[in-house]
Amino acid sequence: MGGFFLNENKITVPEIVARKARKEPITVLTAYDYQMASLLDGCGIEVLLTGDTLGNVVYGFDTTLPVTMELMIAHTAAVARGRKNALLVADMPFMSYATREDALKNAGRLVQEGMAEAVKLEGGVKVADRIKAVVDADIPLMGHVGLRPQAVNMMGGYKVQGREKSDLSTLLDDAGAVEEAGAFAVVIEGVPASVADEITKSLSIPTIGIGAGNQCDGQVLVINDMLGLSEFTPKFVRNFINLPDIIRNAVSDYSRCVKNRSFPSEEESYR
Ligand code: KIV
Repeated sequence: MGGFFLNENKITVPEIVARKARKEPITVLTAYDYQMASLLDGCGIEVLLTGDTLGNVVYGFDTTLPVTMELMIAHTAAVARGRKNALLVADMPFMSYATREDALKNAGRLVQEGMAEAVKLEGGVKVADRIKAVVDADIPLMGHVGLRPQAVNMMGGYKVQGREKSDLSTLLDDAGAVEEAGAFAVVIEGVPASVADEITKSLSIPTIGIGAGNQCDGQVLVINDMLGLSEFTPKFVRNFINLPDIIRNAVSDYSRCVKNRSFPSEEESYR
């Protein structure tokens, strides 16, 4: 691991890029607040993504489209205060990179006000000019191809991409354009495992898969999904724990102890 000021364990962009050649899988999880960021960082997660999925899991929107720059900045800054070592990537929300000027201004805000170390945006060939503009301003950028949640209305829903043979070359072109424009990594979402494998082999930057099989250079999940907190579990999600049951048991226990006056006890009270 490269040095980062005084923190030897800091995960940096070059370190993430180097993982591909070393064939060391990269661990990425979303984080939206201070406490969770601190917990995940302490578990050694290498990249924390303050994703615009916060619109779904924190704010209860149906899509990520209502997420604003203000929300992204506030949540990214909270995560920044909680993490020590992980690389912090912030999503650029819908319409925040509609033009090159928007992309530059808003990527800069996520770094200066949100304290992100890199930003992520969705798209391939069509957004290559914006990726280049951001990278030319010395802001590392992660791409995002395949199923693009911000394009839900264009795609007609959250549909697996790349199932038709003819889609493969479009996806390869998109991923290639992201790399060519200077991105340091790219998320591949919602494509058949064989397609993600081909894209991964065609790129020299790491691919981070979600619903894209196990041949990507790293994996990302929405933290609430892998803890079992989300109402719906898509096929590609594994619930590594059923947190709702644990929370329900604790809350029922609290409620019972309040009602029978066993909480707070003498020890839990000031004298
Ligand atoms: O917004 C997000 O959380 C994401 C991940 C699911 C990759 O883009």
